[in-house]
Amino acid sequence: MLTDNFQRQFSYLRLSITELCNFRCLYCLPEGCAKPEQQPLSVDEIRNLVRGFAEMGVSKVRLTGGEPTLRKDLISIIQAVASVPGIEAVALTTNGHKILPLLPFLKAAGLTAINFSVDSLQPNQFEAITGKSSAADVLKAVESALVQNFESVKINVVLLKGLNSEELPAYLELVRNKRLSIRFIELMQTSDNREFFAERHLPADLVGKQILAQGWQQVTPGTRLNMGPATVFSHPEFVGTVGLITPYSQNFCASCNRLRVSARGALRLCLFGEGEYSLRPFLQSAQQLPELQLAVTNLLGAKQQSHRLLEGHYGSTQNLASIGG
Ligand code: 5AD
Ligand code: SF4
Repeated sequence: MLTDNFQRQFSYLRLSITELCNFRCLYCLPEGCAKPEQQPLSVDEIRNLVRGFAEMGVSKVRLTGGEPTLRKDLISIIQAVASVPGIEAVALTTNGHKILPLLPFLKAAGLTAINFSVDSLQPNQFEAITGKSSAADVLKAVESALVQNFESVKINVVLLKGLNSEELPAYLELVRNKRLSIRFIELMQTSDNREFFAERHLPADLVGKQILAQGWQQVTPGTRLNMGPATVFSHPEFVGTVGLITPYSQNFCASCNRLRVSARGALRLCLFGEGEYSLRPFLQSAQQLPELQLAVTNLLGAKQQSHRLLEGHYGSTQNLASIGG
């Protein structure tokens, strides 16, 4: 198993498969994505990468973007990842805009979990935040994913002061009768969004206080091994759960179980780290897997104990579209 100098084990790979996006989220790509993409990893390179990581103990892969549904070969990518021995879960993070007709094919290809980004339930606000008027379509896709029995269906909400911070009751209603989880994610500062961050950042603890007062209970850490950095809450009258992702809280990094690889095949040890290390030269044939594994093992030695967000360091990440959150 891949282990770092702080005894953290890495069973989870987040792989961006494109930097392109069709949304313009205010905190991420407010101008849209301008540049045409340099060649992202091919299906064969992705297969080699995932084989290399799976042999080192990775069992879950999340495909992110940009917006992964913009890849024409998404189905082939999922098939390739899902058929690697040792991979038990293949998840996708999407804005949901184009996904509805793809869902049966994604399921058949081996996709097990989907996270939809839904930053407002109000159509006007949704459009103000994302630049697209597709709130209703995205919610239809969420419903359809539930009906089609994906193992896990979640909604990600980036908390934004004054833009969606009044919508907590509506989000909670969504999970009352559905096997759906909501994740409230604290807005993170990147080099592109400094002013927006200063204006809109809201600590997710505020949501925690409100839901505790309404009878939600924190699921004890002992029962949520390997669930990653979210703090999860459940309620006897609700089928679904609520999670908080609070990167600015103490000890957030202690439960880090993930490594990231960019669309162009660069390893990122931390969302807010400085460097990235190209693995692409090692992905050109299956014979190179030992070289790939040696490189990853060595690079992991440089993973820091914690990000330094609280000291105002957010690393070299310009926006999360380049690395998928
Ligand atoms: N802060 C917090 N969350 C972000 N995301 C993208 N950029 C940021 C940011 N700066 C979210 C997306 C998506 C997930 C992959 O990351 O909205 O839900
Ligand atoms: Fe696109 Fe996601 Fe960035 Fe929004 S947050 S612009 S959906 S990559």
